[in-house]
Order: sequence, then structure tokens, then C-alpha cells
Amino acid sequence: MKPVKIGILGLGTVGCGSVNVLTRNAAEIARRAGRQIEISMAAVRNLERPRICGTEGVRLTTDPFEVANDPDIEIILELMGGTELAREVVVQAISQGKHVVTANKALIATHGNELFALAQENGVMVAFEAAVAGGIPIIKAIREGLAANQIQWLAGIINGTGNFILTEMRDKGRAFGDVLKEAQELGYAEADPTFDVEGIDAAHKLTILASIAFGIPLQFDKAMTEGITKITAEDVSYAEELGYRIKHLGVARKTDAGVELRVHPTLIPERQLIANVDGVMNAVLVMGDAVGPTLYYGAGAGDEPTASAVVADTVDVVRALTSDPENRVPHLAFQPDALEDLPILPIDQVETAYYLRMAVEDKSGVLAEITRILGEQEISIEAFVQKDVTEEWTQVPIVLLTHKTKEGRMNRAISAIEALDCVYGSVMRIRMETLD
Ligand code: NDP
Ligand code: HSE
Repeated sequence: MKPVKIGILGLGTVGCGSVNVLTRNAAEIARRAGRQIEISMAAVRNLERPRICGTEGVRLTTDPFEVANDPDIEIILELMGGTELAREVVVQAISQGKHVVTANKALIATHGNELFALAQENGVMVAFEAAVAGGIPIIKAIREGLAANQIQWLAGIINGTGNFILTEMRDKGRAFGDVLKEAQELGYAEADPTFDVEGIDAAHKLTILASIAFGIPLQFDKAMTEGITKITAEDVSYAEELGYRIKHLGVARKTDAGVELRVHPTLIPERQLIANVDGVMNAVLVMGDAVGPTLYYGAGAGDEPTASAVVADTVDVVRALTSDPENRVPHLAFQPDALEDLPILPIDQVETAYYLRMAVEDKSGVLAEITRILGEQEISIEAFVQKDVTEEWTQVPIVLLTHKTKEGRMNRAISAIEALDCVYGSVMRIRMETLD
């Protein structure tokens, strides 16, 4: 059989990683796919830039549309990132009857509903395993492996850069900026690294996971997102004293009132396996009603781990080239006409427990004031720790752990506490999850 010709948009970290894996493992991959895969053309921005992969025999262009329009190419690997140009080229490729494999979570989370509908009309596939959790086959696991289950919730460390930063800060006391720079040099970070540290990248991925877990349309604009930039070394060490680790977690939960969709730093009991996932590794914990909890772990970023997912998707597409489009696994796991319109809960309706840290005046009655305010909002305290006096002798840091409460109540309590004369500055709030 003739080789399948593919075109690649982008030969950066993921694009070159994919070329290297496709080349090195060509024979093994062909045995799996049933056909040889030939990289016919690739688009880059700068033809002169040195690459970490060979490009012999590959026609290079600076025009991605040239790849999308080439009549010999059957599959496009979109590995350049961004949402606007990427969307236009992918739309063009689909309209030309080409299948698309992408690692671009921003593209899928923001334009996926439109792209999947167009792909269905044109009888082609848009595969996106590499868009979530790098090399972990989490899309396949949820979409196919857990298809028998009602998924109740999932929680994941789904940004490698953020986890790498938190781990290096905790284990080696390194400065935030230094570790971020190293993550960029290692090719882990997004083109705009605020996507990593402010939780936008994780929210893109969580949006995708929630859709395939619950059978709802992609709704990135409704995800609540908080980054890791405000976490201090003190918080990390106080959390550890209390038996917790701080991880940047994406949580999606189906409740009677709607779906929770939130990304934020989270205290997790250190006994949980996911609390011990360090460095660039990612992990996703999925709770199904039949199977119970399942945990998926692996490298969340980097050239070849991500290429592992890109190439696996490419193999899937090659295998499905001759299959009936109606009988393929649906893009969002559920049949397109069976997606549910469940509301995404506003964050003030979400219930979690909290870690609160504040600096207070070192005098009697302060704690009584704070507990009174929490009591007014029906928030009960699980633990209280008063830390040693800081250099400024009048200020004492205190840390409180609360039981679960609605975020709206906690917001009101925090505003009232911050208004007290005996409380200095703002209250640091970190949400807690037991993940039981
Ligand atoms: P890079 O910046 O390393 O590579 C981007 C590539 O796209 C470069 O080769 C660049 O060309 C090319 N490119 C960009 N714009 C254009 C354009 N207008 N025309 C032609 N070529 C263009 O990014 P990554 O490989 O890190 O990321 C690619 C995608 O994969 C993103 O969507 C990212 O979110 C996703 N991803 C990344 C992971 C990672 O670990 N890095 C993991 C999982 C997903 P040139 O080299 O000439 O500048
Ligand atoms: N910037 C992303 C991360 C790449 O660090 O997780 C993988 O999606």
C-alpha cells in the first residue's frame, strides 16, 4: 500500500519531537498503522532557524495554507500553537477533506465545538490527545476506557511548567522566575508563559476533560482560573506542617446544581498519590461510578512525551482512513446530538474547604473577632495554628483550615476579616480538596 502523506505545521518542540519519533520508530509505527507514514511538507515561520530534527526530504514552506491545500497530503499535524491562524488553517484543511491531529489545547478549548461540527460534516477526524497532559493517553482513557461509567469528578495536575516551578521552589528553594526560565529553555512553557503560571493553559485542558467526561459542549469562557504566582514559600511550608502539599489543580465535578470547572492552587493531603507528583510530571485522577478512582500519570510536556501522543493519534487516524465516519469514536466521547446543556456553576456556588493565612495584631481578642466573622457565615474551623512572631513584633501570622463552605460565604468572610483593624493586609486563601 502507498505511504500516507502527512504535513506538519510547526517544527518547534512538539513538531520536531514528532518528526524524530516518526523517523526513529518508522518501522514499528507502520506495523501498527498498517501503512508507512511519510512526512511530505512542513510549515515554519523562519526557514533559517536551526532545528532539533532532520528535515531531509521534507518540503519546507513559510505558508501553512500551502500544506493545508496540498492535494497529496491526507493528514495535517497542527503543532504551531495560537488560536487565530491555527483555526483558519485547520478549517481550511478540514474543508479540503484532510484529517487533523493537534496538540493545541487553546485551539480545541476555544474553537473545538465549531471544528468538530465541521469535521463531522466533512467526514474527517480532529484528534487531540496531545492537547491534555502531554504524553498521558488521558483522552483515550476517559473517552473509550471509561465509557461504561458515569464520571463523577476528575482532578488533575495538568500543567507541567507550573508543577515544575512549584516542585523546584519547594525542594530546592529556587526563585519562581529562575525556574520559569528553565522551563522555557526545556521547551515546556507556552509561547506566552502567563498561560502556564496563571492557569489559562490548565483551564484549556480542564475544559476539554470536562467535556469528554460529562458529555457537555466545550465552555472555556466559564472556567474559573487562578494561577500560582501568589503562592509563597511560607504557604508551602505551613501546608506541609499541616500534612498537605500545594498543587496547581484542575477540578471538574458534576453536581446536582451543575458542573464545577475550576483551576487553582490546592492543598491536598500528602497521603494522596497525586500530592506526590513532582516536576514536569502530570497526573489525572478520575472517579467513575463503576470503576471507582483511577489515576493516570506521566510526563506532561516536552518534545518526545508530547510526540508520543501526537504520533499515537496519527496512527489512529491512519487506521481509520477507510472506516465509516459515522462509526468513529465521537470527538467529545458522546454522540454530538447527545451532548447535555448542563450549567457551569459560578464559583461562588462551589463548595470547598479552605486554608487561610493572615497577619494579625499580637493582642488578645483577635482570634475571637475572626471566629465570630466565620461563625456569622456558618464556616467552621477544622484547625488553627499561630506561627512565631515575625521581625515586626506586633504582627503574628495565623493559619486556619476550615471545613467545606460555599465560596460566596468565604468571600464575604474574607472581606469582613480584611476590614478588621487588627488584621494587616490581605488574607491568603487556598482551596483544599481531600480527593476521597
Ligand atoms: P514552539 O514555539 O516550540 O514551536 C512552534 C512552531 O510553529 C515553530 O516551529 C514555529 O516556526 C512554527 N510557527 C509558528 N507560527 C507560525 C506561522 N505563522 N507560520 C508557520 N509556522 C509557524 O511550540 P511548541 O512546539 O512548544 O508548541 C506547539 C503546540 O503544542 C502549542 O499549541 C502548544 O500549546 C502545544 N503543546 C506543547 C507542549 C510542549 O511541551 N511544548 C506539550 C503539549 C502541547 P519557527 O520555528 O520558524 O519559529
Ligand atoms: N505548557 C504546557 C505545560 C505544555 O507546561 O504543561 C504541555 O501542554
